[in-house]
Amino acid sequence: MNYELILKDLKPSQEEKDAVKKTSDKVISFINKTCEEEGIDAKAHAVGSVAKNTWLSGKSDIDIFISFPYDCEMEELKEKGLYLAYKTNDALNGNASEHYASHPYLTCDIDGFEVDIVPCYDLSGGKPIRSAVDRTILHTNYIKAHLSKEQEDEVLLLKKFIDAVGTYGSEFKTGGFAGYLCELLILNYGTFENTLRNAQNWKYNTGFDLENHGTLKDFKKDPLACIDPTDKNRNVGAALRIERFADFIVASRNFLEIADDEEMDESEKEEKIAEFFNQLKKDHLDKPNKDIAQDIVDSFKDRETQTLVIKFNIPIMSADALHPQLLKTVKSISEKLDSEGFDVFKYDYWTDEEKFVLFTIELNIFKQGKYYVHKGPKVWPKKPCDNFKKKWGDALYPLDDFMVLTRERKFNTAKGFIGDILENNIHIIKVGKSIKTVIKNSEIMEIDEFLNDLDIHFNYDLEKKNRVDLASDYLNSLDDFLNPGQYIKR
Ligand code: UTP
Ligand code: MN
Repeated sequence: MNYELILKDLKPSQEEKDAVKKTSDKVISFINKTCEEEGIDAKAHAVGSVAKNTWLSGKSDIDIFISFPYDCEMEELKEKGLYLAYKTNDALNGNASEHYASHPYLTCDIDGFEVDIVPCYDLSGGKPIRSAVDRTILHTNYIKAHLSKEQEDEVLLLKKFIDAVGTYGSEFKTGGFAGYLCELLILNYGTFENTLRNAQNWKYNTGFDLENHGTLKDFKKDPLACIDPTDKNRNVGAALRIERFADFIVASRNFLEIADDEEMDESEKEEKIAEFFNQLKKDHLDKPNKDIAQDIVDSFKDRETQTLVIKFNIPIMSADALHPQLLKTVKSISEKLDSEGFDVFKYDYWTDEEKFVLFTIELNIFKQGKYYVHKGPKVWPKKPCDNFKKKWGDALYPLDDFMVLTRERKFNTAKGFIGDILENNIHIIKVGKSIKTVIKNSEIMEIDEFLNDLDIHFNYDLEKKNRVDLASDYLNSLDDFLNPGQYIKR
């Protein structure tokens, strides 16, 4: 296949490259000058996709790392790192917001670019990492040294494809492929197309070890094991979740099915192939409004299920810590419902990562009869049966070879049952530790109730445009819930 036309859109123009380099250089030289003037032992580096020449046009986040000597105290690194970042931001008329990874860093809007300024340790000489971001400089150097000019284009194709099929990004929310992983895939398989040809036959725990460190055996549990060339004890694919791994495999098959179709008309093929490099269009979900909400309500109605929405507020915490706790909790609630005879068809969660969480639980069985059979001991040994009788008296009767009684359910609807768990019996489910208290004050609603008051729940105002995007994002997530697998085909 020829990808020249597609690459035209993905490759930054010379103009964009110049502008990015100008800002990046400005930030670096300001930091280095300040360090020199103030006697701070630290050095600024260009890292990430901008430094590696693997950024997609229009998507440049400029990553600047400030390395401190290996023996510098962590407190000093944090303090001086932020000091330098703020000073740079102010001097270059930026607009800064603080973020947290393993330690605080600054994201600045400078000249219209998103510039991340992150302090880290200098690992030169092969020292082990002290903070999670320390490998980044090594990654950048490795890719710059090994990726050829032609392969830079292959990385762009792969990154864009992976993004368009919904599997790009290593944050927990996505659980997909990081940029660095895309680069290593190209180093391993040579080209974009060859990566997909291999991926369509990947098995669980596919692995590659570019520098022959010999540590693949340490990562037998991960879907994809990609030994970091710069650190034999690190799997670059560690954040990849099985769902995204499977999505990518199937998306590769879907793509190649078209690319290899000999019957298909060339121009039709070209068009279809190009679609795999565009984000899925969902124009109908553009702005939240009553019609969209009603469509979604109707789709749920048509499924003849009952869908519950559980809403609660969250404490201040990092998104990467929050997401796994939410997944664990909604999964545990669903399993509990299943074990009580309710039947969960599907569940998911959504959060604005700042104010509140929405659990969505769709049930095939959401109401049960008034009574259930409570099982006691086997009929044969008399003693346990006597004890059982002391507790339950005449209500007992034998069923098959067990002593049982018919009891009334405390709650015969899923909604009532969940309400009771959250309010009074939270210990019977597994709840993320940061949300243990807040989840007790949940509101539980049916999906149509919730969507009727979407504007109130999201506190958005179409006129002021505040929080409108979030409401849209939630509706989009419900659309994904109703129509799984949309992203991986075209
Ligand atoms: P970025 O997420 O900005 O990646 O992380 P990128 O390579 O610049 O790709 P873009 O921005 O999406 O085009 C910056 C660096 O942090 C390290 C990598 O070295 C990456 O180049 N990193 C980030 C990881 O090693 N693993 C991760 O999961 C994320
Ligand atoms: Mn980046």
